[in-house]
Order: sequence, then C-alpha cells, then structure tokens
Amino acid sequence: MPSQVEPEALRTAMSRFPTAVTVVTAIGPSGPAGATANAVASLSLEPPMMLACLDLGSRTLVAVEHGRAFGINVLAAGQAELARRFSTKDPHPQKWDGVRWGERAGVPMIHGALVWLACELREVHDGGDHVIATGPVIELEATDGDPLIFHRGEYQPLAAATPPSSRPAGPAAR
Ligand SMILES: Cc1cc2nc3c(=O)[nH]c(=O)nc-3n(C[C@H](O)[C@H](O)[C@H](O)COP(=O)(O)O)c2cc1C
Repeated sequence: MPSQVEPEALRTAMSRFPTAVTVVTAIGPSGPAGATANAVASLSLEPPMMLACLDLGSRTLVAVEHGRAFGINVLAAGQAELARRFSTKDPHPQKWDGVRWGERAGVPMIHGALVWLACELREVHDGGDHVIATGPVIELEATDGDPLIFHRGEYQPLAAATPPSSRPAGPAAR
C-alpha cells in the first residue's frame, strides 16, 4: 500500500522524539569527514555492533565506504557548536578547522565527546533515501557527563528527571 504520510509530517512527528546527538566520522580520500547524525543505535551486544543511518547524499558516507570504517562521537552538553558545524555542507577541511580530534582505529575521534566508538564497516543496507551502515565495534571510550539532546528542532541540555522519592505513589511505584 502506498504511504499516505507526507515527509514533513514524519519529520514533525519525530521532532517530538528526543535523541542524543552524534558526529559520525570517517577518513576519506582527502582527509577527515563528519556528519551530525541522530539516527544511530547500538545493534548487537554479542558481538558488539552499531548502526548508523546516512543520507545517500552524505559526503561522510563516501568517506565511510572509502575507509571501510566509521566513528560515532556522542556529543556532550557543551558541544552544540560542533553539532551545528557538522550538519552543514561546508567543505570538509572547513568543518574540521579548529576542531580538536585525533585518528584512532582508523577513524576520527573528537576530543571532549562523551562516548567514542570505532566500527568496522561490515554491511550497507538500503533504507529509502538513507543507507543503514552496520559493523562491529573495534574500540570504544566512554566518560561521565551530560549528553547534548536534540528535541523539537533544538539542541538542549538533558532535563533532570523527577527523583523517584517525589513521584506520586502508584502501580508503577510498587
Ligand atoms: C540533529 C541532526 C541530526 C541529523 N541526523 C542525521 C542522520 O542521522 N543521518 C544523516 O545522514 N544526516 C543527518 N543529519 C543531516 C546531516 O548532518 C547533514 O546532511 C550534513 O550536511 C551531512 O554532511 P556531509 O555531507 O559532510 O556528510 C542530521 C542533522 C541534524 C541537524
């Protein structure tokens, strides 16, 4: 059955779905590439695998396929500027200008990111106007701190959850 849903309706509906914000990175033929991405998830624990959905027009996808590897950098609360910068179509050297990063396990690792994962590119599945890149996690680093959140089209800090002691008692509290 053909979809009755307009792309803009899906975009608006899913803007209610808060997500963390990552920069997916790779080393392409002419250096580091990176795209802001929230369509990222852990896929498998045994073996450890991740997935990243990349637009068919993403230059970072070209770099991922070139390097056969991708990095996932989960941004910290104070890194909204990086999220904005990596969501542009600026030339890649310009995107990376002034960014503190290093190459590890064949992918760029952005300094100050909350979590960094290096993945080997295993498969690229069709996903409409995106592809789903999957692969095993080769290395990771995780630090404590607050993530950057994308909600209703804006970057926001994580709002504090209501502490359990101040929640009204109910079936869920038993
Ligand atoms: C909050 C946010 C989330 C995004 N998530 C994705 C995503 O999951 N996958 C994707 O391909 N593009 C995503 N984009 C769009 C890319 O960041 C954008 O197309 C970017 O210019 C791609 O850069 P590139 O061509 O250098 O790879 C997102 C943009 C924003 C602002």
